[in-house]
Amino acid sequence: MASVSSLASTLQQQLADALTAALPQAGTADPLLRRSDRADFQANGILALAKKLKGNPRELAGKVTAALPAGELIKEVEVSGPGFLNITLADRAIVETLAARAADGDRLGVPVNAGAGTTVIDYAQPNVAKEMHVGHLRSAVIGDAMVQILEFTGENVVRRHHIGDWGTQFGMLIQYLFEHPDELKHEGGGADGEAAMSSLNRVYKASRALFDSDEEFKARSRDRVVALQAGDPETLAHWQRFVDESKIYFYSVFDKLDMEIDDPDIVGESGYNDMLEETCRILEETGVAVRSEGALCVFFEDVKGPDGNQVPLIVKKTNGGYGYAATDLSAIRDRVQNLKADTLLYVVDARQSLHFKMVFETARRAGWLNEDVRAHQLAFGTVLGKDGKPFKTREGTTVRLQDLLDEAVERATAVVREKAGKVGLSEEEIVENGRYVGVGAVKYADLSTSAVRDYKFDLDQMVSLNGDTSVYLQYAYARIRSILRKAGDAKPAAHPELELAPAERALGLHLDGFGEVLSEVAAGYEPHKLAAYLYQLASHLTTFYDQCQVLSDENAPEVVENRLFLVELTARTLHQGMRLLGIRTPERL
Ligand code: ARG
Repeated sequence: MASVSSLASTLQQQLADALTAALPQAGTADPLLRRSDRADFQANGILALAKKLKGNPRELAGKVTAALPAGELIKEVEVSGPGFLNITLADRAIVETLAARAADGDRLGVPVNAGAGTTVIDYAQPNVAKEMHVGHLRSAVIGDAMVQILEFTGENVVRRHHIGDWGTQFGMLIQYLFEHPDELKHEGGGADGEAAMSSLNRVYKASRALFDSDEEFKARSRDRVVALQAGDPETLAHWQRFVDESKIYFYSVFDKLDMEIDDPDIVGESGYNDMLEETCRILEETGVAVRSEGALCVFFEDVKGPDGNQVPLIVKKTNGGYGYAATDLSAIRDRVQNLKADTLLYVVDARQSLHFKMVFETARRAGWLNEDVRAHQLAFGTVLGKDGKPFKTREGTTVRLQDLLDEAVERATAVVREKAGKVGLSEEEIVENGRYVGVGAVKYADLSTSAVRDYKFDLDQMVSLNGDTSVYLQYAYARIRSILRKAGDAKPAAHPELELAPAERALGLHLDGFGEVLSEVAAGYEPHKLAAYLYQLASHLTTFYDQCQVLSDENAPEVVENRLFLVELTARTLHQGMRLLGIRTPERL
């Protein structure tokens, strides 16, 4: 993607520029630079270029090598194999480039994407009057990370929480509330999310039981749906009570998740009611949708049922009711035409992929989506229990999110407490850190595997201090902060004149890649690549500690300063990277 360069371009970018300059006839040919084990970088692009210029690749590689400026960037170039270049950078260039990044505040030298546009992201969309489940957790966690990452790269992001707040099931609920007006009140009142959910649950169960056993109640409930759809004020007022109570509950869960959700961004299914009729009219008039057995349907060549017949997307049912698809199609019109989005991103369970495929295709046929406006489902897999089966309680019921988060925090607090003595944490700090470690563990486990894969929810593994966990990263951060506190008068300062140890070079080169990883993550909607980058960063740091003392009397003062500089930049990169994933990094752990 085109980018406005920040303070300094990365080493990789500088190297790519030097290679291009060394061979003017290459034009815009990609030097195909990769990090390499043999040297710092390997350039593989000579092969394709030689083919294009009908030349000998090794000869061409030799020419490029000779033409490379003997400046300060490159220390050594070696031609290998059929015509690869193995390139070692000068230590000075590494430290100078990192120093420019370090001088760039929170942005750390990461460029803002010049071609940024507006993305509407649909995430964290639970359903009214229902308990949130682990699927809603995934959407919230992955969505929130994508919001932060996209905003950091310069994208204008509009959040939409498409909550399930409409549908025929409300007939039964509202009717029950009409007949038992006091039932939705709960003890504790106000902002108590758990109490709100338990009274919603009670009403849900009681009304369901009545609906299933009492034919007359069933009939009254059906009439209530009609009243709701007709916009009867009293019916709407009762409906609103369900929405309000549910929001109290949603907010309590989001709060536990340490996640900010703003009320104006909650635009549920009901928010598109006024558009449904027009959406259907346009689809019918343009011939995108056709009448079939009384319903308004859109057909697709490649969507067929087991009997071989095409299975349509139903936008208007035979009884005149609108469903999930009509709402999503209306939401697309709103997001494109009113919110001026050029990208629509949906963080939704992979089990809804067929729905989105049909909805997007319908919107394309209607012209709402086109080359200038694209839609993408960031589909995520199922959360499994330790046994590899869909995540359930021992009794086979859905696991309550509050319980799950509470347990994560409890276990994390125990882990934090065990080490707290050494660091001298107060009880208050133990409790606060326990929360950040516990919630971080849940988020990180979710974000560190590719979203589309199913993943096992295993709390023991999540709060483990070893391995690819958030706690490991949080400890890496806290350890650096502790070293910086202990450094006393010695302050971090870059010393480009120094020769670097191998572990210092490896850490420095990895730090250089932060911006490139972020732009890849933003372009492909793959937060797990940021998690992997941060984990590798912490691993480089561990090796660095093994091989290089930071605060040692045997070090010359400039070596101490340069190492403090490297670890401080590492800490800031960890902090920023974790923040983008929605995970806190306590100062002392
Ligand atoms: N509320 C839905 C569910 O719980 C998810 C909504 C996804 N977003 C959308 N625009 N359809 O499954």
